[in-house]
Amino acid sequence: MHEHRVEQRVIRLDRIPRPVPGPGEVLLRVAATTFNPSEAGLRQGLLRSIVPLALPYTMGLDVAGTVADGDRTGRRVVARLDGGAAADYAVAPADLLVPVPDTVALEDAAALPIAGLTAWQAVFEHAKVTAGHRVLINGVGAIGRYAVQLARHAGAHVVAVATPRNLTAAREAGAHRVLAAGAVTGARLEPVDALIHLVPAAPEHAALLRPGGILVSATTPADQLPPGSVHFIVRNDTADLAAMLALVAAGTIRIDIAARRPLTGLAAVHAEAEAGHLPGKTLLLPTA
Ligand SMILES: NC(=O)c1ccc[n+]([C@@H]2O[C@H](COP(=O)([O-])OP(=O)(O)OC[C@H]3O[C@@H](n4cnc5c(N)ncnc54)[C@H](OP(=O)(O)O)[C@@H]3O)[C@@H](O)[C@H]2O)c1
Repeated sequence: MHEHRVEQRVIRLDRIPRPVPGPGEVLLRVAATTFNPSEAGLRQGLLRSIVPLALPYTMGLDVAGTVADGDRTGRRVVARLDGGAAADYAVAPADLLVPVPDTVALEDAAALPIAGLTAWQAVFEHAKVTAGHRVLINGVGAIGRYAVQLARHAGAHVVAVATPRNLTAAREAGAHRVLAAGAVTGARLEPVDALIHLVPAAPEHAALLRPGGILVSATTPADQLPPGSVHFIVRNDTADLAAMLALVAAGTIRIDIAARRPLTGLAAVHAEAEAGHLPGKTLLLPTA
């Protein structure tokens, strides 16, 4: 089978034996994986202290696919893995698999685990957004598109801050007001209950937070944020992922796919991301 490996920052396509599941694991036929910005950081060695890797390492953190052996063969599932999904076949711990409802396109479901879980936990667990809250979401990429929809679904008033090429996506995700990055100062906004930073926190936004409001960042470390702010690392949580999928199946949340690319083009996708050319979520599809 084919898989994409990274060795000394280089992505290489290899033909290797199909992986064999160990105890408690299942074999998946991969329908799709995704590009996540943290994987670029992984290749650059920036996450060495958080995610130690043995090289060669098979990339791919999000997976959607079908169970390929055992008594659950053919089941449509999605999961967040620690790698290995950028391949025709992947092994996954059985307890991480979440069923994909029939009404959700299987390959699209790969766009949910990391981006969807990060948005879910930012909005509900850390910012504790509820009806009537005013929320500012800074950065409307893959995570931000979900965060805006989830905050809207919670009944909040949502202000989104996006770069020019994401302004339309921010509106389509349901933001009540969309501001261009850099145009927040002087925009005459009412104070917000929560500031959610999905790009490095902009210090000038802090003045928009009402006293007692919460600043949540998925990017800027806590020691660089005002006291009382929260920096979080997404938790792999099958209940949260199942809840996201249920909202997608109900038509409440839309999976926004920016591009579908063959998995054989993974190195080019990374190069494009590093050059700043990738908007939103890119799916990677095995072609074999
Ligand atoms: N803490 C965690 O556990 C966790 C988990 C997952 C991801 N992350 C991090 O969260 C960040 C977002 O991830 P993602 O998957 O959503 O990435 P993404 O799809 O690349 O989205 C980032 C978005 O922010 C926009 N942006 C860049 N600078 C901005 C600015 N100054 N103001 C407003 N928007 C700006 C980008 O615009 P352009 O499209 O124009 O570039 C892009 O739309 C990444 O840094 C990622 O590494 C953290």
